[in-house]
Amino acid sequence: MTATLPENNDQKPVGHGRMLRKEDPRFIRGRGRFVDDLQLPGMLHLAILRSPFAHARILSVDTTAAEAYPKVKAVVTGAMLAEQNLAWMPTLSNDVQAVLATDKVRFQGQEVAFVVAEDRYAARDALELIDVEYEPLDPVIDVRKALDPNAPVIRDDLDGKADNHCFDWETGDEAETDRVFDEADVVVSQDIVYPRVHPAPMETCGCVADYDRIDGKLTLWSTSQAPHAHRTVYALVSGLPEHKIRVVSPDIGGGFGNKVPIYPGYVCSIVASLVTGKPVKWMEDRSENLISTGFARDYVMRGEIAATQDGRILAIRTNVLADHGAFNGTAAPVKYPAGFFGVFTGSYDLEAAYCKMTAVYTNKAPGGVAYACSFRITEAVYLVERIVDCLADALGMDPVELRLRNLIRPEQFPYTTKTGWVYDSGDYEPTLREAMRIAGYDELRREQKQKRENGELMGIGVSFFTEAVGAGPRKDMDILGLGMADGAELRVHPTGKAVVRLSVQSQGQGHETTFAQIVAEEIGIPPADIEVVHGDTDQTPFGLGTYGSRSTPVSGAAVALVTRKVRDKARIIASGMLEVSVADLEWEKGSFHVAGDPEKAVTIQEIAMRAHGAGDLPEGIEGGLEAQICYNPSNLTYPHGAYICVVDIDPGTAQVKVRRFVAVDDCGTRINPMIIEGQVHGGLTDGVGMALMEIIAFDEEGNCLGGSLMDYLIPTALEVPDWETGFTVTPSPHHPIGAKGVGESATVGSPPAIVNAVVDALKPFGIRHADMPLTPSRVWDAMQGRPTPP
Ligand code: CDP
Repeated sequence: MTATLPENNDQKPVGHGRMLRKEDPRFIRGRGRFVDDLQLPGMLHLAILRSPFAHARILSVDTTAAEAYPKVKAVVTGAMLAEQNLAWMPTLSNDVQAVLATDKVRFQGQEVAFVVAEDRYAARDALELIDVEYEPLDPVIDVRKALDPNAPVIRDDLDGKADNHCFDWETGDEAETDRVFDEADVVVSQDIVYPRVHPAPMETCGCVADYDRIDGKLTLWSTSQAPHAHRTVYALVSGLPEHKIRVVSPDIGGGFGNKVPIYPGYVCSIVASLVTGKPVKWMEDRSENLISTGFARDYVMRGEIAATQDGRILAIRTNVLADHGAFNGTAAPVKYPAGFFGVFTGSYDLEAAYCKMTAVYTNKAPGGVAYACSFRITEAVYLVERIVDCLADALGMDPVELRLRNLIRPEQFPYTTKTGWVYDSGDYEPTLREAMRIAGYDELRREQKQKRENGELMGIGVSFFTEAVGAGPRKDMDILGLGMADGAELRVHPTGKAVVRLSVQSQGQGHETTFAQIVAEEIGIPPADIEVVHGDTDQTPFGLGTYGSRSTPVSGAAVALVTRKVRDKARIIASGMLEVSVADLEWEKGSFHVAGDPEKAVTIQEIAMRAHGAGDLPEGIEGGLEAQICYNPSNLTYPHGAYICVVDIDPGTAQVKVRRFVAVDDCGTRINPMIIEGQVHGGLTDGVGMALMEIIAFDEEGNCLGGSLMDYLIPTALEVPDWETGFTVTPSPHHPIGAKGVGESATVGSPPAIVNAVVDALKPFGIRHADMPLTPSRVWDAMQGRPTPP
């Protein structure tokens, strides 16, 4: 497949191109309906008591005073849940996590007890009256010390567990990689930390659980990115059949992976509704979200790269120590405990690659979620793009020149990497050249040279990434045994209006618009006449949900194919209406006509009326115009992109300013360029946050130092430049409309571009690497020759 450079950004690759978002009138006018907007008659409120310690034994829990507090309806402890066998729940990584602690607390902020009261204030007040006696234990905070022989054992709840080892994983060919390294002219290695960060969605997590004792049905409105998968887990835990559980994700204020796991708060709310017979609402506050829900990254990596003297990259080798917190709460396909980290070979044609990873437990919140990336790809891309820059530095080569020399060539696709990933399509060089053109790369280098002579600190950073998005296929990928495939249903009403039902769930990405556009493109019904239904297990087909940019690659394909199925049926009905054979019909968006006679035509609306109307239909055709499918992707899709960042550093304060940022993305066929740009802008902003500001740090006792937005800094309009975006189009050969995912590309590709730019600016100080977040104090340390603190 060859990339094309469209002449302008207004091309309309999928009909209706830049149409405005159908969902925006509701959001802009304050008519969105989020979980916390729900008010049900008799609804109670739940608040959770959390551990102040990172590691402590629970000696006793006295709830007497809390129970006596006005308006309190119930106070529940771990011991009470244990009596019902509900104190522990499965995580999405086949580990177990305490719903409420029984024996020990294992991280600061862990759930210890809950109160249900008539209002949220009484519930919160009563928490203060619960008396918990703790015996503090030594915590394990430094991931590098987690496997020390004398380290306290965190997971003594697991039978026979005598250390903090979580899992080992490896990929690639170790012997072959060692051989290539031994024979290489140049070997460069670098220790690199991707610190713990948090997705911090604007809306925190929460739910309303409503168990109806009469019909035995549980309804859970929750902030879930995967309502169907969550329903199955609730069915397994509670013993209720799935048809007696309805999970509804209403409007969601951002997910970014944070709303994929099942949190104790959801289970507590279900228990509370079962116990009280009333609807129960739980909504966490900002600090609870930051200290207890799914974190991301936390990889301590050693990257090594081998090359020839003239800049041919031969191999990459890496060793990773992964901090998984107190419970393995990673949300990743079962066979991929390290997610898709295997794409650390990047966009380069290598001879060999090898990765060895060890994951450990520490006394920190569980997680390891795919924060705006497809399962650890962000870490992989950061590693390879940093280490390639280190190599460029060692060889004295321009980092763009080094990349151009090593990018996989178009004729090599489909390209199988040395770790076994089959990149579906790509034409990388035009994408990088387009980024250079927009940035004016050569001119920037000239400007930098001049500024350096004046003692000014200007840096130019480049990154090139390939993502793997759209998990399945189901033969390789499942979460807790549920295959990664997604359903779609399309029903065309007699008047030609349509409803499409999806198994994926939008958290603000504009699905109500883009999925209507796909249907419109395939069958010619205007998007305004197409309703997109999602986020309600009673109303949508089964599927694994939205994360890892999988909606377009998987459900987008499902929607295109189900629409084609409906169109095939419409063709047969049209042949009856026009009294010609099916083979004599031609399709022009929205109608069939007799070949060679465009006047003799029927519109899709007329066909829909006929499908539901009086009179006979062609032999063997049932009435109605609808279809459903379950789409099992044959491969992931592999979007790519080239990013160039320009920074200036104040030599007096070490403050980094991102002056320019050019992002050229290739996500195959583009459905709605406006929405894509919005996704890219958001991801780039996230990248600035991670590169320069964000870290969930802990002190030696395990106190979380990022528990509020005063401490956990997220970027605003003030910290980001006007984004400059461009694109190339290399369709996916196996996706029905050639689309690849894009929602997370920018989060993946931007941190290395920014860090590369900062390191480039600091070259006069002899610096080759500094760890994120590059806050003024860290940059200052680097300028003084001090290493980044661990
Ligand atoms: O799974 P998620 O929705 O987060 O990510 P995605 O599939 O990459 O899609 C993000 C948004 O961009 C959706 O509204 C997509 O339909 C849209 N998109 C697009 O317009 N064209 C593409 N080639 C890919 C995504």
